[in-house]
Amino acid sequence: MSLDPTRRSDKAFKVTTGQHTTHLPETPAGNADCVPQGRFRDSSFNPSLTRRGSLRMRLALFQPDIPQNLGAALRLGACLDVPVDVIEPCGFPLSDAGVRRAAMDYGALAEMKRHAGWADFLAAPERKAGRLLLFTTKGARNFHGFRFEPGDTLLFGRESAGAPDDVHAAADHRLFIPLARGARSLNLTVSAAIALSEALRQTDGFPTAAPTG
Ligand SMILES: C[S@@+](CC[C@H](N)C(=O)[O-])C[C@H]1O[C@@H](n2cnc3c(N)ncnc32)[C@H](O)[C@@H]1O
Repeated sequence: MSLDPTRRSDKAFKVTTGQHTTHLPETPAGNADCVPQGRFRDSSFNPSLTRRGSLRMRLALFQPDIPQNLGAALRLGACLDVPVDVIEPCGFPLSDAGVRRAAMDYGALAEMKRHAGWADFLAAPERKAGRLLLFTTKGARNFHGFRFEPGDTLLFGRESAGAPDDVHAAADHRLFIPLARGARSLNLTVSAAIALSEALRQTDGFPTAAPTG
């Protein structure tokens, strides 16, 4: 897998809107109305479940502002086999070149589900089971002492403003990552990586293959 930042990939994002999963080609003319592809073609495969039959952990981003952060989060999700929910509106077009560059080479592995808004996210089939855990600088509990479960969705707020009160209220738990005295917050995707790492470690959810370099 090439990590050369100057090379454009010809791969595509796997994008789900509603019940349909599609690839989003890396061309400016691309859109989410392409032919469904990948593992979702196999109707016997339930994408909500792990191979062991438990619910999959998910990463959710509430109205992200910065395309490079979403791109890095898609790459994170692709590498750790975790689907990414994007709650729109975003602060940029989802076809933005910055998203593609940051997620490059991982497009075919990335699973992104778009939600038109907060209400659509809450109404999505994935929300019928599994807890919603909001990571927030206003969190009540240190994530270190928290017991994660395989079907948890880890939700993160906007870079500019975090998550609003109703999102805080809707979460089953609100968690913080402890920081050095005087530090305000981590970068969005850095916080997602730290949180996901701990959650997957606790639930034995890390992929098992060694990196291919
Ligand atoms: C750049 S931060 C947002 C900062 C925003 N001014 C605030 O006060 O919420 C973007 C997101 O990263 C996550 N985040 C960053 N640092 C965190 C921390 N120490 N604990 C929990 N979540 C954190 C949260 O989800 C946050 O909404």
